[in-house]
Amino acid sequence: DASKLALPVGTTLDRFIMRKQEDFPYATGELSQLLRDIALAAKIVNREINRSGLIDIAGAYGNQNVQGEEQQKLDVVANIRFIRALRNGGEACTIISEEDDEAIDTGNVQGKYIVAIDPLDGSSNIDVNVSIGTIFSVYRRVSPTGQPGTAADCLQPGTHQVAAGYVIYGSSTMLVYTTGNGVNGFTYEPSLGEFFLSHPDIQTPRTGTIYSINEGSSNSFSPGVAAFVRHCQDAQFSARYIGSLVADFHRNLLKGGIYLYPATAKNPAGKLRLMYECNPLAFIVEQAGGRSSNGYARTLELEPAACHQRCPFFIGSPELVALAERFLAQET
Ligand code: AHG
Ligand code: MN
Ligand code: MN
Ligand code: MN
Repeated sequence: DASKLALPVGTTLDRFIMRKQEDFPYATGELSQLLRDIALAAKIVNREINRSGLIDIAGAYGNQNVQGEEQQKLDVVANIRFIRALRNGGEACTIISEEDDEAIDTGNVQGKYIVAIDPLDGSSNIDVNVSIGTIFSVYRRVSPTGQPGTAADCLQPGTHQVAAGYVIYGSSTMLVYTTGNGVNGFTYEPSLGEFFLSHPDIQTPRTGTIYSINEGSSNSFSPGVAAFVRHCQDAQFSARYIGSLVADFHRNLLKGGIYLYPATAKNPAGKLRLMYECNPLAFIVEQAGGRSSNGYARTLELEPAACHQRCPFFIGSPELVALAERFLAQET
């Protein structure tokens, strides 16, 4: 019943989550609580980010994470905030985070959900006041409750997601999420401390004229990727690349376009992580009428073998992603 689902622009996120829950007769409210916990942590992280230029918490932490990247202080701060909110909220038994080598056991053995999170995406942009984000993905655990989560709980394909979303800390802060029933975007009003529905039922354009790829690696693009990039140039597309996946994705979602992070010499399996970067955005884009793949296969159907595994990533307007896939299929 579509009329039941339509809520007016200006509805607060909390009310929206509550009303959506009422649409599912047997919903127990645990997923709703989990989403509210994430939104609360997002507000706290938003505050930290806004203050990062003032107090000396931005900048290198002098530590490296499991990916061998230099951890920024705000990576650490955001990771702590989200994990704390999810642990205190009680709904997640296990968390997979970019910033933690091993899956985190929250101690919530009754928690029915697994969360995979990139607490702070685009961290190289923190110190230069460019948009950054958070990406999250939620799965139902497959093991029985009463015990800690298992590896099987963590390594589910993206088709099993029950919710996914991102926060963009940009010229305004937004939270965009799906529970598999369309995509809705909420804009943060900092003086009120509330997210308000501003982008109901987001639909991505069927095609577009933006392509987003780090062309600094073009010497090592495969022939198919190189040919597709040439096609974008011949068609006089606009090149747009912020270097924060969330921000690049969000722009293309609203305006139409394609984002590509293919295999390169430096990152032979691609750079982006399946569990907490690719799958959540793939779920969102499909819910908005878009398409996502590794160039050959649907992102959501890739079988994960490890929490931090990487994959090539082609995402955006359905016609452009399908076209890129055709270029790759013609590779010799
Ligand atoms: P993170 O900051 O969470 O480690 O993610 C970095 C990712 C992503 O945000 C961005 O799109 C991509 O790295 C940029 O990579 P390049 O600098 O290689 O283009
Ligand atoms: Mn990182
Ligand atoms: Mn990231
Ligand atoms: Mn990150």
